[in-house]
Amino acid sequence: MTAAAERYATQYAEGSLLSVAHLTVAEVAGILAMTTRLEQMSPAKRSQILAGRRVALLFYESSTRTRTSFELAAKQLGATTTLISDKSSSIEKGESLKDTGLTLRALGAECIILRHNASGAASLLAKTSKLPVLNAGDGMHEHPSQALLDLRTMLAHVDGGRRKTDVNTRSLDGIVVAICGDILHSRVARSNAMLLPRLGAKVLLCGPPALLPEWASGLGPGVAIERDFDRALQQAQVVMMLRIQKERLAGLEVDLADYVERYQLRAERLPASVVVMHPGPMIRGLEIADEVADGPQSAIEEQVSHGLAVRIALLVRALGVHA
Ligand code: CP
Repeated sequence: MTAAAERYATQYAEGSLLSVAHLTVAEVAGILAMTTRLEQMSPAKRSQILAGRRVALLFYESSTRTRTSFELAAKQLGATTTLISDKSSSIEKGESLKDTGLTLRALGAECIILRHNASGAASLLAKTSKLPVLNAGDGMHEHPSQALLDLRTMLAHVDGGRRKTDVNTRSLDGIVVAICGDILHSRVARSNAMLLPRLGAKVLLCGPPALLPEWASGLGPGVAIERDFDRALQQAQVVMMLRIQKERLAGLEVDLADYVERYQLRAERLPASVVVMHPGPMIRGLEIADEVADGPQSAIEEQVSHGLAVRIALLVRALGVHA
């Protein structure tokens, strides 16, 4: 075990997923293999795996895909779920994240899925609660389960799906993934930029300086900046569009009309072989045009389905069950 892995193991409960940086490529391969095994299992058998186990969903920010898929995943496995939202709980009265976590643990929660608007919140909750914590998005930091579902979606598409078995450091060799939009605020971009190059992909980040600062190219080896969206598209096999996060734009100068002209993904600029992805929620007419979102190259709904499948495996892993 490396020193970093040892430090991680002493700080966090086994099965936590806080950052893609904590996963080895072998662990990524293991999670994706388990995802496929669980997908192929009969629903009756799957529903016994976490029977009687208790999962808490703690959400300080709105979510449709992540929250629903984790909840449905837990239910498919037979677990009991409870949802705690900042809008309808003692969080509104000022209870801290630490105390909320300790309260959930005292009530019998065995795993907490956390979405929070502060970067580092998932790590704090994991340290203080000592429970396995699955990071469902923390501020501008990371969204690791999204990166795993995005990876599974890509592997299902590139080379006609031939690369989806035997996941390793060369699985995405020769693949260029363009990620375009509000990189600055995007935990999805960060997790993907940290994960995909470790499987051989080149990640091209694309967007205006206000939303894509120069430092972003330092997210890791295999990550570069290409400001010209059309040039990025000509090199890419996959393009991932990101929402402009209006709620995090305060103080930034972004001319939306100019942004649409330069960076909106429209049919006229989309090469025929490029797979279109978007983590959602999409703002149609802003970063992506209807004809692309609903077009034959779109894998956006598939991403959502892969999200459910991957999160089933992440819950099994979090609760330490061999399946
Ligand atoms: N991709 C994603 O995190 O979507 P939600 O905000 O709907 O969960």
